[in-house]
Amino acid sequence: MSNVSKALEVIDDRAPGFTAETALVLGSGLGGVTEAVSDAIFIDFADLPGFPKPTVSGHGGRLVLGRIGAVPVVVMQGRAHYYEHGRSNIMAEPLEVLRRLGADDLILTNAAGSLLAEATPGNLMLIADHISLFGPNPLIGYHGDDRFVDMNVPYDPEIGSDLKHVAAELGIRLFEGTYAWCTGPSFETPAEIRALRVMGADAVGMSTVPENIIARRLGFRVAAISNITNLAAGMSATPLSHAQTIEMSKEGSANLIRILLRYFQQK
Ligand code: HPA
Repeated sequence: MSNVSKALEVIDDRAPGFTAETALVLGSGLGGVTEAVSDAIFIDFADLPGFPKPTVSGHGGRLVLGRIGAVPVVVMQGRAHYYEHGRSNIMAEPLEVLRRLGADDLILTNAAGSLLAEATPGNLMLIADHISLFGPNPLIGYHGDDRFVDMNVPYDPEIGSDLKHVAAELGIRLFEGTYAWCTGPSFETPAEIRALRVMGADAVGMSTVPENIIARRLGFRVAAISNITNLAAGMSATPLSHAQTIEMSKEGSANLIRILLRYFQQK
C-alpha cells in the first residue's frame, strides 16, 4: 500500500469520514494559526507515513483537522523544505493526502525576506507569481503528460482577491509581489539579492514554490502569503538568523490569523 493510502487510513481511523474544503500549510513561526481551528483533531506527522519529520525549530509536526468558521480545513502545522532532505518533492505525498481529503484550495504561508524597502518586518505579502530557477523542479522524474503543468496562473486570482478584500476590511496592509525561491539553508548574499531584484523579485524564501508546482499538478487552486520577517540581505544592518526569523514572525502572524479567520468566516 502506498504512503498516501496508509496516511489516509490513519486519518480515517482518527477522524472517520472527515473531508476538507481548504488545506493550509503553516510556515516558520505561524503554527499559532491552528488556534483558530475549532473541533480540532491533531495527528503527529510521525504517525502519518510519507509526512516529514520536521528538523527546523518553529515548525510543529502535526496535521490538524477541524473547522475555521464553518469551513472544514486540514492544516499542516509545519512543512519540509528542499534543504532538509535534498528532495524538492519532499511535500508531494502530504499534499496528495490533503487533496484526497477533498481539499480544492490550498493556502501556503511562509516566512520571507523582503526586497521592497517599504515592506518592513511585520508586514504581509500576497504572492502573485514566483521565480523558481535555483533548485530542481519537484516534478523531475514524474512520468505522464500531466508533469507539463501550465504555470501561466500559478496563484489563484479569486482567492487572492478575497484575501486582499478581507485585509482591506481589517485595515491590514497586504503587499503583493513576486516570491523568489532560493534553496537555503544559508541566507542569500547582498549580490544575490541585487540580482534577484533585477529579475523582478519582491520577496525571497526557502519554501512554497515546490509546493505550488506539486499542488498545481494535483489540481489545487493555490494562494500564498509571506510573513515578512526581515529585509533581504544587504538592505539592513541586522544580521540574519533563524532565531530572528522566528522572533520577527509574531506581528505578521497575528495579522495573518486575523485575515484567515475573516476569510473563512466570509466563505
Ligand atoms: N531569505 C530566505 N529565506 C528567508 C528569509 C530571507 O531573507 N527570511 C525568512 N526566510
